[in-house]
Parts: sequence; structure tokens; C-alpha cells
Amino acid sequence: MLFPIIRLRRLRGSETIRRLVRETQLSIDDFVYPMFVIYGENVRNPIHSMPEVYQLSIDNLVKEVQEVADLGILAILLFGIPETKDAVGSSAYDPHGILQEAVRAVKDACPELLVITDVCLCEYTDHGHCGPITVDNHKATVANDSTLELIAKTALSHVRAGADMVAPSGMMDGQVKAIRTELNNNGFDHIPIMAYSAKYASSFYGPFRDAAESAPQFGDRRGYQMDIANSDEALREVRLDIEEGADIVMVKPALSYLDIIRRVKEEFRYPLAAYNVSGEYSMVKAAAEKGWIDEKRIALEILTSIKRAGADIILTYFAKDFAHWCQET
Ligand code: PBG
Repeated sequence: MLFPIIRLRRLRGSETIRRLVRETQLSIDDFVYPMFVIYGENVRNPIHSMPEVYQLSIDNLVKEVQEVADLGILAILLFGIPETKDAVGSSAYDPHGILQEAVRAVKDACPELLVITDVCLCEYTDHGHCGPITVDNHKATVANDSTLELIAKTALSHVRAGADMVAPSGMMDGQVKAIRTELNNNGFDHIPIMAYSAKYASSFYGPFRDAAESAPQFGDRRGYQMDIANSDEALREVRLDIEEGADIVMVKPALSYLDIIRRVKEEFRYPLAAYNVSGEYSMVKAAAEKGWIDEKRIALEILTSIKRAGADIILTYFAKDFAHWCQET
């Protein structure tokens, strides 16, 4: 039998038909909004490289999370900027540290908002690396195993303060297992871990390091974060994190790593998060400020591509913008 010419364009003929057959739908339920908390009172420091993102003191954070929850955003990812830093990042696991106090205040004010905490030492060490430094072969490197103990302690202190989920981001080997064990031993076996499993040594984190005041004071993070050129290695990282007990795995950054997102999803069929990082956000904001691009359309195209690639969860500074854009239409 002869078929008439197949015209795929028939399904593109009107917005109604396009909506009917659309394969990927963004929803506010997909997004986690990252926020930065700093010590002090009534502080609202703009981050020059990240328009509309602020370092907020706890009082202002509480006001802002109410707005975030009212917009329908389900979850935030919280980063702390401490008052003091030292070689071993002690303020990261201080039960009354900035992040711990912030979690308590947010959960008090907004119990329904899911609070995920970033578990890493780089904001808390004076050298800006993700754990204590040792000198190995005349080269300064992060001491993997002593860092594990400290990040497990940090995660436990976050959960004791009320965190609903912890997200270890330091790329230390064994960090998921160390945290899982510590949480289980303390009666928190119900708290999930979202692991930054495939985290690349990316230049797209530049603006974040202004926001979190966490730029390394010497060297870089290539000794523990992944080589941007690798893809099979991401699968090995993800496999290990799943074996160690990760509940959600993450690929980071997102936009230059859509292929990794797709491979991880296809290989593991596991809850997958992708972090649309600071540099990806700042580039869009900067070009939009210059009037060179249509911010809303570009941001929606980027977010759609991340979801289409296979992400179930998108961590993005655009979460609030997205909520506003939904209200417009
Ligand atoms: C480490 C951490 C980083 C980001 C999230 N957690 C920075 C880094 O590894 O240097 C980057 C997030 C972003 O760029 O938006 N605590």
C-alpha cells in the first residue's frame, strides 16, 4: 500500500496541536532554588555577577523564603557564608553555625518548604578548598579521608537543625557512604542524600564563588572535581554514589553537560538532578541586560533542554523568574 507523503509539519500547525503533542513540560515542581545566607542583621548584599541574587542575613532570608514558598517553589538549596574561616572549616559543623541557625529559622517560619543543605567545607576554610590540606609529593592537596569525617559531622549538624535533605558537593571519594553511616547511626536513616556525583572542574562556577566567597586561595579544584573532557568517568562516579547510598544523583553544571545528563539517565534510570550553575545564569542575565537576547525565551529554552536531556530536578537561580513567568501567561 502506498502511503501519502508523511507531513510531520501537520502536527506543528497550531499552538493547540503543538501543546497536545509536546513531549517535555516544565513545571514549578521541577525546580530547586539556591539561596545564600550570611551572618548579620538586615543584610541584603547584591552579588554583582548574579543579578537578583543576594547574600541574605537570617532575618531577610526568612522573609524571602516566604515569598519563594508563596510562588509555589517546593524546595531551596541553602549555602552558608560564615563569619570566621580556618584551616579545617570548623564553622561548617558548629551546631550554631550560620547554616544551622538559618535552617532552624527557615523551618520555623515555613515548615512546608523543603530545605536542602549544601554540605561542603570550601566556604568555611580560609584557603577555600573543600577540606583540610595536606602536602603530598610537594603538592598541596585536600586530605580525602580526614575530610570525610568532617563532612559527615557537618551533614549531621544540618539534619539536627532540621534540614530535610543533604547535598554533599565536595567530590571527596566515599563522602556519600560517610554521611549515610553518620546519619543512620544517629537515627536519621529517613533523610535522603542528593549527591553531587558528576561535578566537573568547571569555569561556570565563577560567579558562585563571588556569592559564596569560596574561591580557592591557591591552586584549583582539578584534583578532586572531574575533568571536563570525560564522560565514562561520570558514569563510574554515579555508580559509586548509588552503591554508597545516594537517593538522588546530580550532574553539574547542566548546559555544557547535557550529554552526561542523558547518559546517566539512560544508564541508571535513577532520580537525577542537574545544576544550572551560576555562570549559566549570569551569561543569560548579562546578555539580557544588554538587550541582546530575549531573557525569558532563552531561559525557558535552556531549562527545557535540561529536562529534555533527562533531568528530573533542576537546581536553578531562575526558579523565581520561572514562577513569575508562569503567572504572566
Ligand atoms: C561547592 C559548590 C560550588 C557550587 C555549588 N557548591 C562551587 C565550587 O565547586 O567551586 C557552584 C554552584 C554554582 O556555580 O552555581 N560548595
